[in-house]
Amino acid sequence: MLAGKNLRLIPLAAEHLAKTRQWANDLELNAGILRVLPVTEYDQEQWYANLCRDSSRIVFAVHLLETDAHIGNCGFYHIDYLHRRGELWLLIGEKSCQGKGYGQEIVKLMLSFGFDSLNLNRIFLHVREDHIPAIKLYQTIGLQNEGALREHYFLQGQYVNVLTMSILRNEYDATK
Ligand SMILES: CC(C)(COP(=O)(O)OP(=O)(O)OC[C@H]1O[C@@H](n2cnc3c(N)ncnc32)[C@H](O)[C@@H]1OP(=O)(O)O)[C@@H](O)C(=O)NCCC(=O)NCCS
Repeated sequence: MLAGKNLRLIPLAAEHLAKTRQWANDLELNAGILRVLPVTEYDQEQWYANLCRDSSRIVFAVHLLETDAHIGNCGFYHIDYLHRRGELWLLIGEKSCQGKGYGQEIVKLMLSFGFDSLNLNRIFLHVREDHIPAIKLYQTIGLQNEGALREHYFLQGQYVNVLTMSILRNEYDATK
């Protein structure tokens, strides 16, 4: 189990799926996320079954330590065990829990897990260029902007630029 000051991360289990689907289908919540397709119960069952068999993806449920409430999810996709890299993502689904610094705690726990347990060398992510809270959060923790993929996604009726941000193991070690 991964635990910080306020949060713990545990492997995503069947009990987390209903809330996860609700968040995946919440348009407002997903405005900053690079995903558009609705998720049915069947889609999600397939997704979860594949996830459990796929070592290139790891998903955690985020729980508050104090109340044990499930407030979001996070994970690594596209883990490459040869090149030692993985793509980080996170979602605080409970809107009342956004803007409280939990995002920072999640990213720190995931960097520690990715570098210290999975032995990754590079952790990267994609974020739309106008998602200021997320970009500020990643910059605060030390991820660097590698540049924009121009008009990479079509979201809410317009093409948006998407930044690639990353942190390398030696940069992470220097922050310890
Ligand atoms: C984006 C998200 C991860 C941020 O985590 P969070 O815990 O809510 O954010 P934090 O409280 O850590 O705030 C992050 C930073 O953004 C700033 N911020 C928050 N809202 C802001 C706003 N509307 N405008 C400008 N800055 C804002 C905060 O002040 C903070 O900066 P600081 O550390 O310099 O003070 C979280 O809100 C979330 O999961 N949102 C929905 C899904 C999503 O968008 N995921 C990210 C996809 S890339």
